[in-house]
Amino acid sequence: MIQFQCDYTEGAHPKIIERLTRTNLEQTIGYGEDGYCEHARELIRQACQAPEADVQFMVGGTQTNFTVISSILRPYQGVLSAESGHINVHETGAVEATGHKVLTLPSADGKIRASQVREAYEAHWKDGSREHIVQPGMVYISHPTENGTLYTKGELKALYQTCQKLGLPLFLDGARLGYGLMSEASDLTLPEIAEYTDVFYIGGTKVGALFGEAVVITDPAIAKDFRYMIKQKGAMLAKGRLLGLQFETLFTDGLYFQIADHADRMAMKLKEAFRKKGYPLLFDSYTNQQFPVIPNSHLGQLKEKYVYNFWERVDRTHSAVRFCTSWATKEEAVDALIRDLEELDTLETGFAGEEDLRKIAEMEREIFPDAWSEVSLADTLKQKSTVIITAKKDRELIGYLIASLVPEEGEILRIAVRKEFRRQGVAGHMILELENVCEETDVYKLMLEVRESNQDAISFYKEKGFTEDGLRKDYYTDPAEDAVLMSRELGR
Ligand SMILES: Cc1ncc(COP(=O)(O)O)c(C=O)c1O
Repeated sequence: MIQFQCDYTEGAHPKIIERLTRTNLEQTIGYGEDGYCEHARELIRQACQAPEADVQFMVGGTQTNFTVISSILRPYQGVLSAESGHINVHETGAVEATGHKVLTLPSADGKIRASQVREAYEAHWKDGSREHIVQPGMVYISHPTENGTLYTKGELKALYQTCQKLGLPLFLDGARLGYGLMSEASDLTLPEIAEYTDVFYIGGTKVGALFGEAVVITDPAIAKDFRYMIKQKGAMLAKGRLLGLQFETLFTDGLYFQIADHADRMAMKLKEAFRKKGYPLLFDSYTNQQFPVIPNSHLGQLKEKYVYNFWERVDRTHSAVRFCTSWATKEEAVDALIRDLEELDTLETGFAGEEDLRKIAEMEREIFPDAWSEVSLADTLKQKSTVIITAKKDRELIGYLIASLVPEEGEILRIAVRKEFRRQGVAGHMILELENVCEETDVYKLMLEVRESNQDAISFYKEKGFTEDGLRKDYYTDPAEDAVLMSRELGR
């Protein structure tokens, strides 16, 4: 399997392993007070052009977020964040577990704007019962955001200036900061991130390190006693030099930026391939996370070889998924995925619309002696208790399935595939799509009738798990023939 599901599927950049090995038996003092940590701090201050900044190392992202946030807030305060912010959706309530509420702001693209922060602040301070409500005490953003999008320099500056005016410290979660900074769409530099935030962190875990995040604090009020907080939260690594050595390596000769740039380039190759394939993108990301919306029938083929993340259901037949590249992604893996995307069976199943009815009626006339007319198909389409599933190749109709679905039971009324596309799994794909619908509509049993002489069809349905329930005498006319009744229980 080739993994694209996240950006920490590998260990660490070989230069880091080499440096850890080379220094393994050296003796240093602990808790991040050794010479390697000091040197790494200095390199980071230089890269940030922030000579006065305090730099502290921690182990992982969640730990860094709740330690920073709980060190800033008073007991009755909460942190403003986008609804989709990582601290709100993916950290198991870690911030709330420190006693501080996450105060969410709506966001379609993962970003929050200066005006939203001002409005939330004013809404609080204008409220006569404000002493009964959690007070907004700081602002959390991530860059890139949870959706892979980026703040522009203008947006970050406006946010920072508003936060300054309102007395709300601005904290930027940079778990993927490298991928943000090296994006072709970024107009922000590391020194500007340092200038327009009060505290932020440079993510190492996702960008080449075995583990580690470097917190850069430019506001002296936040830096004061911060190490007490680190220790109290269990976040002060005894063998702290392991963090210093890793960040020293990452910030020597621009390694951090080079490896992040590689991930972004690989992601842009994938983005282009998704576009070419005609997959819409859920978010317009120019960083290492890509969110294509893919037909479920294609995902079924891709998952044989690739691991990706399910993101959200878009409709009955499409899902948004996340493909992540990283500093370690091999270009061969990306090229293999692109090739497979190109060669992917273009069969797409979906639901018929009015525009499909003429073609379905044509196929009816070609295949069935008792063909349904376009008018009766249009009636069927309008009925709530029937579904018409289509199968298309290169957007041309090659098959369809009509079923009636009443509570508990469904019946396949028609299933047809163009002659030249038979025995290629098309009917199977449509049945799979029907099963998805059955699951949504609480249908637990599927039934159908088939001509007794149509042994191919009977074998096909048996392969799909249907069993014979009996015969219906003289069911068919023209020519007259018995019908074999078949059914299949669907998993409850
Ligand atoms: C933006 C962001 N912040 C923080 C984290 C949390 O990192 P960890 O899983 O190392 O605690 C992640 C992890 O996915 C993240 O994407």
